[in-house]
Amino acid sequence: MSQVASNGSSGSPVRIAGTGSYLPEKILTNEDLEKLVETSDEWITSRTGIKQRRVAAEGELTSHMAAKAGEKALEQAGIDGADVELIIVSTITPDTLTPATACYVQQHIGALKSVAFDVSAACSGFLYALEIARHSIGSGAFNNALIIGAEKLSAFVNWTDRNTCVLFGDGAGAAVLTRSENGDGRILSSRLGTDGAQAELLNIPGGGSACPITPENADQNLASLAMQGREVFKHAVNAMKRAAEDAIESAGLTAADIKLVIPHQANIRIIDAIVDRLEVPSENVFINVDKYGNTSAAAVAIALDEAHRQGRIEKGDKVLLVAFGAGLTWASAVVEW
Ligand code: UT7
Repeated sequence: MSQVASNGSSGSPVRIAGTGSYLPEKILTNEDLEKLVETSDEWITSRTGIKQRRVAAEGELTSHMAAKAGEKALEQAGIDGADVELIIVSTITPDTLTPATACYVQQHIGALKSVAFDVSAACSGFLYALEIARHSIGSGAFNNALIIGAEKLSAFVNWTDRNTCVLFGDGAGAAVLTRSENGDGRILSSRLGTDGAQAELLNIPGGGSACPITPENADQNLASLAMQGREVFKHAVNAMKRAAEDAIESAGLTAADIKLVIPHQANIRIIDAIVDRLEVPSENVFINVDKYGNTSAAAVAIALDEAHRQGRIEKGDKVLLVAFGAGLTWASAVVEW
């Protein structure tokens, strides 16, 4: 198990200058799922807090959703697509295995001078991208970055497996990072962690070079998400609690200083357990898992944008972002707005 700490001591301070998100129009409710698998609205709601999720339209790709979220973040930041220098897309559902989805996004938004690549860290990926972009700008190598979490999980879900198909949704969220000047807000701290020994708890076993999809195995749904839910649940609570506490401490703060907690949106029971342990008032926690389900790398990014646009984050507020996902991976950051 590894844990990498970072507290912003290297380079210039970096801030979030804009956020954006995009959700596909199509809504799939728990009642809709009752017609697909043996499940019930009561089970899904009580075990996960999810009421509905979004599903991308036919032909709507991860890169399309990513670009739409990115354009909104750029508009809010007042930066033209052509002036973007770095694009990092976090996704486990890329348009293609290669090239990176970020390359397609570069074309969609006309960021033709940018460097663009993907990060694969599942649900923690947006915060991994945040940390890479922060150091890339802080070091002086880039002046700005567009980071995006985007997923089309509907393409990698086994729609006959009730253990997983009720959990996931599609969508994208984005943020623009720039150097912090004149007392603007800044990213105060961040923590990243990985435990590859637990890789098999949550994965997509087929479709990679370890297990290509062949005519012989094509009927086994190997290119779909597989999860040992109960085990993942336990790790998620412990790792997110630790990551949150570490990020708060390395920012020189206490939980009482945090105006808003934006946790990964996988399961309301996981969120409640973390909030309980951190002793944060529940009104200081942002929740939208009921509307979108688990959108993996997009979840924290979408929640951040919604919280921001709803006026739940004001200048000077300290916001805690915390996530957990396949890998296993976990990540946290404290941002002063
Ligand atoms: O985003 C990355 C991180 N991912 C997560 O954090 C997810 C973590 N895990 C979870 O959120 C939960 O473990 C789940 C929501 C996936 C499952 O909830 P659970 O309370 O852990 O249920 P379980 O897997 O222990 O299953 C309990 C029962 C089982 O039946 P038996 O064996 O007790 O008879 C399942 O077969 O519920 C059954 N079940 C369902 N029943 C109705 C599982 N899925 C469904 C379903 N509808 N959709």
